[in-house]
Amino acid sequence: MDSSPLSILLLVSSPHEAPVSVQEDLAALHDAVRDLDYDVEFVTCVAEPNAVQRVLNRQDRPPFRVLHFIGHGASAHEKMGAQLAFEDRLGSLHLLDGARLAPVLSPTGRPEFELAVLSACHSEQVAQALIKLGVKHVVAIEADAAVYEIAAVRFYEHFYRALFTGASVAQAFRAGRSAVLADDRLGESAQTEAAKFRLLPTEADHHTTTLKAPPTSSPVRIQELPAISSSHFQQPAVGFIGRATEKLEVLRRLDRHRAVLIRGVSGIGKSELAREVGRWLAQRGWIDPQRAYFIPVDQARSAEEVRALLAAALGIPADQLPGDERQANDHLASLIPRRSLLLVDEAENVIQYGGRGVRDLLERLLQAPGRPFLLITSQRDMASPGIPIYPLPRMDEQEAIELFARSAHLDPGAWRRLDREHLAEVLNFVDRVPRAIDLLAKVWRREGDPDFTRLLTQLHQYQDRILRDPDYPDEVKSVTLGVQLGYVRLRERSLDAARLFAELPAA
Ligand SMILES: Nc1ncnc2c1ncn2[C@@H]1O[C@H](COP(=O)(O)OP(=O)(O)OP(=O)(O)O)[C@@H](O)[C@H]1O
Ligand SMILES: [Mg+2]
Repeated sequence: MDSSPLSILLLVSSPHEAPVSVQEDLAALHDAVRDLDYDVEFVTCVAEPNAVQRVLNRQDRPPFRVLHFIGHGASAHEKMGAQLAFEDRLGSLHLLDGARLAPVLSPTGRPEFELAVLSACHSEQVAQALIKLGVKHVVAIEADAAVYEIAAVRFYEHFYRALFTGASVAQAFRAGRSAVLADDRLGESAQTEAAKFRLLPTEADHHTTTLKAPPTSSPVRIQELPAISSSHFQQPAVGFIGRATEKLEVLRRLDRHRAVLIRGVSGIGKSELAREVGRWLAQRGWIDPQRAYFIPVDQARSAEEVRALLAAALGIPADQLPGDERQANDHLASLIPRRSLLLVDEAENVIQYGGRGVRDLLERLLQAPGRPFLLITSQRDMASPGIPIYPLPRMDEQEAIELFARSAHLDPGAWRRLDREHLAEVLNFVDRVPRAIDLLAKVWRREGDPDFTRLLTQLHQYQDRILRDPDYPDEVKSVTLGVQLGYVRLRERSLDAARLFAELPAA
């Protein structure tokens, strides 16, 4: 009997413009197999051609007999066959049809993947492309019709349990489907859910192939994508929302210059975007997740203070830095490890007061032998030829509504009853600045104003009395500053966020 472990290539694809909840899908898969003590390893890889080829080209690994894909599919149209949604190098959507899948999934021509499990839209059409590549069995899960997570987890659990213990593909498939049909949590929809799972090609013999795995005393392993553990890089409480274009714009600049200064008014989302980019860089292997350094410089006023903060972040005693500015910059630069990210957060004050010294320091860091990535957030510009500026726009209308809904903890019923036009009007009042939206949602929740009329009336009534500042860009002029002012006072006095709006008109 074959006692080598069973290797499964787990491809995850979450392009900026069509994201997939990778973390949740992986958790569901974990859930499904956590009680299975078999020598099986899911090797997780982002579905980006180069990344996949890097894994597949290693000849010192066991062959992958199974391919499990989490992502999107696209139906056949015009001259194109059905396509699988991969990512390109910068994380944008990159569709691959059958012909273009071949060099990616079979770069050395080594025969692999007897079975593919495909959870995607148009999965049935996409399955044909894989079958052409020589995959004999494809379990296609029609994600178009939003498979209940319960159904997917149930299916995986029983399908893989049967498969690993020696069932044929046909039997394992049937076991998975039966589990969906028998799940009382699905009630009447069990039939519909079960019908979304297909075994293809329909005419093939699925009874003879088995993919047994040796039993062990530990559960099936599923590799995680690399992630930054530092608490400075955590997602906001409601999850990171939207910003696909903005993320890509920042990545483009990082790709070209290794540095970018994200500029915008307070609360527009600079720090959140910078963190999100940091998480992406780690997940996609551009940086080492242990080497993502968060350097909050809002209290600093000089280059020397920034150096001390950076030294602390790198774990270097500050008294080891030479007294001479230039030597200190050189010394710090020489200690920055390879594949690192420096996130210099809230730099507006130090840019204003720290003068030339701050710019010299940042430019020196960028030239460090370790070639770090440098992300700066600031409300003000810094003129440096090597560090491009990215002005962060306000949130897109749909994203703003989503942020409101999540911050207000709207349940599906309340979501349906919501007057979106009124809400959009309210959100425009605060320039769709995320911090203001978040605060609005909290106030709205407390006040229970079902249709926003009270809030809108107040906002209209006091519009003219709300502080305006000619220095702010045109698109951010209405009540944002009032909200900000309120927010600053709020922080100073540590008041409940909900009191802000009671104070707003007076601002
Ligand atoms: N993309 C997003 N998804 C979810 N929430 C967001 C997003 N962007 C911003 N927020 C919310 O808005 C708040 C303000 O965002 P952030 O702290 O990034 O602003 P900022 O531009 O860095 O402000 P400051 O200049 O004051 O530092 C966050 O705490 C978070 O609650
Ligand atoms: Mg910030």
